[in-house]
This record gives sequence, structure tokens and C-alpha cells, in this order.
Amino acid sequence: MAHDLQHRLARREDVPALTALMDAAIAELQKPFLDPSQIASSRAIMGIDTQLIDDGTYFVIEEDGALAGCGGWSRRATLYGGDRSPGRNPARLDPATDPARVRAMYTHPSFVRRGVGRLILSLCEDAARTEGFTRMELMATVAGAPLYKACGFEPVEWTSDDRGGAPVPILRMRKAL
Ligand SMILES: CC(C)(COP(=O)(O)OP(=O)(O)OC[C@H]1O[C@@H](n2cnc3c(N)ncnc32)[C@H](O)[C@@H]1OP(=O)(O)O)[C@@H](O)C(=O)NCCC(=O)NCCS
Repeated sequence: MAHDLQHRLARREDVPALTALMDAAIAELQKPFLDPSQIASSRAIMGIDTQLIDDGTYFVIEEDGALAGCGGWSRRATLYGGDRSPGRNPARLDPATDPARVRAMYTHPSFVRRGVGRLILSLCEDAARTEGFTRMELMATVAGAPLYKACGFEPVEWTSDDRGGAPVPILRMRKAL
């Protein structure tokens, strides 16, 4: 249950453990939704974004010291992707006109369906609201879309990203805060 979970901001020294968690989540939790070539391809557009850690907008969720999940939000233009993804844009968003981003959500396969994703989203929404944002936007994987839908995000448009090889379906979603 969510009350067993603790949260804190991620630090640079967490990167190796967070990378291992993301690798496991990408490999295991996308299996019901994507074929192996799509999972391989999705690695090019997923993964750690250290800018979020440096910005203080990336959360780690733990239970008794074990890493259960991670995810964050952003006041910068990049909508999705990791450090190695092409086309990143660190420009600052304007809370008066732009939606804040939800970014890089991953739950360890041993901790799924225990509210880790839901907890991270509520932390992100609170933080973005505190900075004056009134909307949030994200690009969901097929694996991520049910979580966001359950948390009040609405679909905007389906697209796909083939920069890693096989086309990976992704869904732009939005929520008013
Ligand atoms: C998406 C992800 C972060 C969800 O994490 P989670 O911690 O298991 O999510 P929660 O336990 O907070 O789920 C909250 C609600 O979302 C919905 N949900 C989450 N995962 C779901 C799934 N696989 N199938 C259907 N509904 C799901 C349910 O309504 C759930 O509530 P319930 O368990 O009471 O039914 C996780 O599956 C993951 O890491 N996936 C692989 C990486 C990825 O694609 N990340 C998203 C990038 S956009």
C-alpha cells in the first residue's frame, strides 16, 4: 500500500541504480503491450534524463531502502526521452501559457500495482501547481497510458516514434491541474 512508500528527490549518485530499474521496467513491463523489436526500439526514446535530477524535479520512491520507482516533472520544453534521445529542448516553459511536463516514470517490476506511479504523479502535480502551472502534458507509452488515464489525463493524439528502429506507438496526454 502507498503508506509504506517513502519519497525523496533523486540525486546524481542514484543514477546507476535508477538506470538498472529503468532497464528492468522497460524490458519486463512493456511485454504485454509491445513486441520485442518495439521494446528494443523504445530504449532510444526512454531512459534517464539527468537534467531532471539537476533541476530537483525527479523523485525516487523507496520502501525500507529498496528502490520501488522513479519519475518526475519538468519546467522545460522536452516532452519525453532520455539523455541519449535526439531533439531535446531545455528551454524554460512559461507557467502562464505552457503545460508542465510529466517525465520518465518507471516502477520496478517487483513493485507494480501498489500505487508507486500514482504517488509520483501526485507529487509532480503538487510541485508544478506550486510553481504556477495550470496544466500538465506528457507522452505516454502504451504501458504507461492506463496509469495516466486512471489519474485523470486525457488522450490528445496517438503518434509513433521510429528513431530507435521499429515504430513505437506513443500517446500525447493532457490534464488540467
Ligand atoms: C507505467 C508504470 C510506471 C505504472 O506503474 P505502477 O506503479 O504499477 O502504477 P500504479 O500502481 O500507481 O497504478 C495506478 C493505476 O493505474 C492503472 N494501471 C497501472 N498499470 C496498469 C496496467 N499495466 N494495466 C492496467 N492498468 C494499469 C490502474 O488503474 C492502477 O490502479 P489499480 O492498481 O488500483 O487498478 C509501470 O507499469 C512501468 O514502469 N512501465 C514501464 C515503463 C513505462 O512505460 N513507463 C511509462 C513511460 S510514459
